[in-house]
Amino acid sequence: MAVIALKCPDVEVVVVDISAARIDAWNSDALPIYEPGLDDVVRRCRGRNLFFSSDVERHVGEADIVFVSVNTPTKARGLGAGKAADLTYWESAARMIAAVATSDKVVVEKSTVPVKTAEAIEKILDHNGRDGVGFQILSNPEFLAEGTAIRDLLAPDRVLIGGRETAAGRAAVQALKDVYARWVPEERILTTNLWSAELSKLAANAFLAQRISSVNAMSALCEATGADVAEVAYAVGKDSRIGAKFLNASVGFGGSCFQKDILNLVYICECNGLPEVANYWKQVIKGFKFPAIATTMCKDIYSLTPFQVIKINDYQKSRFVNRVVSSMFNTVAGKKIAVLGFAFKKDTGDTRETPAIDVCKGLIGDKAKVSIYDPQVTEDQVQRDLAMSKFDWDHPVHLQPMSPTAIKQVSVAWDAYEAARDAHGVCILTEWDEFRSLDYARIYGGMQKPAFVFDGRNVVDAEKLREIGFIVYSIGKPLDAWLKDMPAVA
Ligand code: UDX
Repeated sequence: MAVIALKCPDVEVVVVDISAARIDAWNSDALPIYEPGLDDVVRRCRGRNLFFSSDVERHVGEADIVFVSVNTPTKARGLGAGKAADLTYWESAARMIAAVATSDKVVVEKSTVPVKTAEAIEKILDHNGRDGVGFQILSNPEFLAEGTAIRDLLAPDRVLIGGRETAAGRAAVQALKDVYARWVPEERILTTNLWSAELSKLAANAFLAQRISSVNAMSALCEATGADVAEVAYAVGKDSRIGAKFLNASVGFGGSCFQKDILNLVYICECNGLPEVANYWKQVIKGFKFPAIATTMCKDIYSLTPFQVIKINDYQKSRFVNRVVSSMFNTVAGKKIAVLGFAFKKDTGDTRETPAIDVCKGLIGDKAKVSIYDPQVTEDQVQRDLAMSKFDWDHPVHLQPMSPTAIKQVSVAWDAYEAARDAHGVCILTEWDEFRSLDYARIYGGMQKPAFVFDGRNVVDAEKLREIGFIVYSIGKPLDAWLKDMPAVA
């Protein structure tokens, strides 16, 4: 919305939220999220044509176009638990829009929703709206990635707008197209039917996650054979039909979108009687633990027992933990391990579904003492994330306190050097630029020997670190003699 305000000075943009605290933060100098370049855009537009308000009803009532970007977490319980999207917030937003609208409105789905959500929203609006007030629903999925949001919005690969194929539907699509056309070239604004737009978002995220899981699966084979995953990915990506992006091997993908959207896709496939297609996409994500209510259902449909399914993204994380433990004489009990990076990727403080959570839990489970440093993640956040079980993340009311022994095993450091002091090993879990240029000789000097670096993002120059004296593990790269001699990891 800030970028729309920047690019369309004659359009008034009001961001509304029922949380007054959140709106206060948006009106302050300390914005509630860290995103490179966002401060600058907000500073330029706020008070001019960009406003933040908790008077939701008034501003929705006055608007011509309403973007709905409410949270759509994975359902924690009930029908479709663990897979289906929870549309509670969407439904209440639609009911509120219907209640306050006194003039025609274009309602835009910005949140990622299951295909066919627009149909349900249309029904709610049409049955609850006042007489004579018309609604048009558009699907306009957001493709920006965190950490590069402003850049992605200023120069998007494409903007996608789906609408009804009626005269009123086409007029609504055109109205939204006119907004984007202020800065996005015409040929990059794609218009489709509603269902194609809704499904394209889930499909795009599923394809992206699949690329990472494919290259991560290759990384294990590279380690076993002496191939270098970076060389393989480069050679594969040079094929213009495949392309070079999103082929960086890693400790596993994280973030709020991929897992949630693929689970959602899996559920939609199941609901449409397509178990083979559902199973295909399931391979890309993790071996999630089915909540009790879904267990029988899943067993019946696929003859699966809950914990049998080891999917590739989970596999990559446990492979990493196993590598750490096996390299250190098969035990990390009582050893200090420095974890550099906790966010799910660089340039964000977001930790939702970050692979660091599973890796840290794995290390803690093996009784390691973990010292964590991330330039954008607070100690509170780390403790909260490690205390929660997977399905609680969007439902913090179920927060369980961490056991006292586990709390003692985790500390948060103010810089990388402090985290690594006296440590036996360093695990790099987020690709922050600053980890490329740390003084590794200084870090080595302060560590226990032999000193290990486990690079889960392939950001360090492994050869240079080996010259210093480190034993280095890089995902998908030929192994040190030391690592080769250790028992194979599964
Ligand atoms: C994603 C989609 O990219 C975006 O289009 C959509 O709108 C929202 O979901 P985001 O979750 O912000 O965006 O981050 P993204 O850059 O896609 O990274 C997701 C995860 O994959 C991160 O943990 C990242 O580190 C990892 N990743 C990405 C890899 O491990 N290797 C890669 O080559 C690329």
